[in-house]
Amino acid sequence: MSAITSSDRGRDIPGPSPAPLLGWLPALLRFAFRPLDSLMSLRERYGSVVRIGFGKYPAVLVFDPEYNRQILRDPASFYAYDLDLVPVDFPKEGAVRNLTTGMPLMNGPRHDDHRSALLPYFHRKFVTRYHDSCVEVTERKIASWRIGNVMNLRAEMERLAMWLGTAPVLGLDPEKEGEAIGIQLERTMKIIMHPLTLMFPYDVPGLPFHKLLKQADEMERVVRMVIARKKEEGLNGKDILSVMIQMRETDPDRLSESELIGHTTTMFRGGYNPNGMALYWTIFLLSRHPEALKMVLDELDQTMGGKTPTPDSIEKLPWLEGAIKEGMRLFPAGTWTGRLAMRDFELGGHRLPKGTWIVMSPYVVHRIPEIFPDPYRFKPERWLSEYHSAYEFMPFSAGPRYCIGTSLGMMQLKIALSLLLQRYSFTLKPGTRVDCTGLNSIRPKHGLPMIVTERGEIPSPVKFEGNIHKIVNFV
Ligand code: HEM
Repeated sequence: MSAITSSDRGRDIPGPSPAPLLGWLPALLRFAFRPLDSLMSLRERYGSVVRIGFGKYPAVLVFDPEYNRQILRDPASFYAYDLDLVPVDFPKEGAVRNLTTGMPLMNGPRHDDHRSALLPYFHRKFVTRYHDSCVEVTERKIASWRIGNVMNLRAEMERLAMWLGTAPVLGLDPEKEGEAIGIQLERTMKIIMHPLTLMFPYDVPGLPFHKLLKQADEMERVVRMVIARKKEEGLNGKDILSVMIQMRETDPDRLSESELIGHTTTMFRGGYNPNGMALYWTIFLLSRHPEALKMVLDELDQTMGGKTPTPDSIEKLPWLEGAIKEGMRLFPAGTWTGRLAMRDFELGGHRLPKGTWIVMSPYVVHRIPEIFPDPYRFKPERWLSEYHSAYEFMPFSAGPRYCIGTSLGMMQLKIALSLLLQRYSFTLKPGTRVDCTGLNSIRPKHGLPMIVTERGEIPSPVKFEGNIHKIVNFV
């Protein structure tokens, strides 16, 4: 744990006070169990910079594109959280450390070197080489769907996203290797994202932290097996994993074994996890907005005429792109993100010390009405006329560390959605409640049971219950 300078600076910033006796515990628990409500109400009550103190850990929440810009454009001064920075005693070696030594959790020159080495493989032109595999796995996934089937759209889309991510990142079989590693990863992540895991970080049988260490061992075993399989199959440089293995073989000091395991894990999950959410939320939102769905289908007819998408045709779908962006605006894959200040700094006229934790929230900024008029409504058409800067609309984050997989992710989404929407429409199974959950993302707690209908056959949406109505206005 690096030394953190505590200071009185920043006390002039408005913010809640600790509760008598219990201190910050009630606020922390509220945040852990209802993060979206907590973030929204803190902005409403205190404004765009909110101080929250955690004893010797000074912390602020910021809800303003200008502050997002100030923090995110300067990664040398504001570090992403890595295991050495968070106030939890993780073992110094072992599976948890290996699995998390990936790009999103690295900082400094080593992060920059790895990012610039891998960046060319994520270039828009380069990723079109995965176009055919995206078409193939989507066709494979939907081949078993039948009109009238009830399916859990969440589970189906999470699986499809794992398949879509397998060729670019691992270059292996989507069902055999892709799914195996994805399923194990989700088991591990479920424990990490449990609010109690990091609150009680003790390796004692019965506690979730102990379970996390066990799951991480299993996860590392699976990733090592995938790396071994890749070496056996031969390195063709066509997927990120073989590029990274070659990089390590050429210069082992440049990329350690731990980093190879970490990059493989975070890169694979970093891709399929947000993609899965974007797929099911976009389909769900379209299913509740028949006029918007009709515009998307007309556009698909005009551009593709029932044919398989091509790299060229997916670039000519402003309505579909608008629907995807609206899905990501309302349901950003990361509802908040954090940085740690590595120097004293100034924010909105307030001086803050080195060691301040900073939390930014795309979820909140995406709902500021002065930036996004009528922010709770799903309006794909806004993207035909409104312009939003990278620090206002940030589902892929922004600044020098914005998501490296942006072009790949958008391509995968457009291919998969254009294929399956040309074939089928969907409607929520009557009587379903849609309650959302998640510490840092928004997922339907009980899945998303949807009935598969004939393409374009869009029954008028019937009313349904659930806390999703706090996130989107469906009127
Ligand atoms: C819909 C698709 C995607 C979304 C919404 C998304 C979102 C994000 C976000 C928000 C971040 C920044 C996290 C933070 O700093 O707090 C990020 C970083 C990252 N993403 Fe993505 N992502 C997507 C697809 C992908 C894909 C397909 C890959 C790779 C196969 C990928 C790999 C990464 C990596 C390696 C980083 C870390 C970049 C760095 O720290 O320099 N992502 N992504």
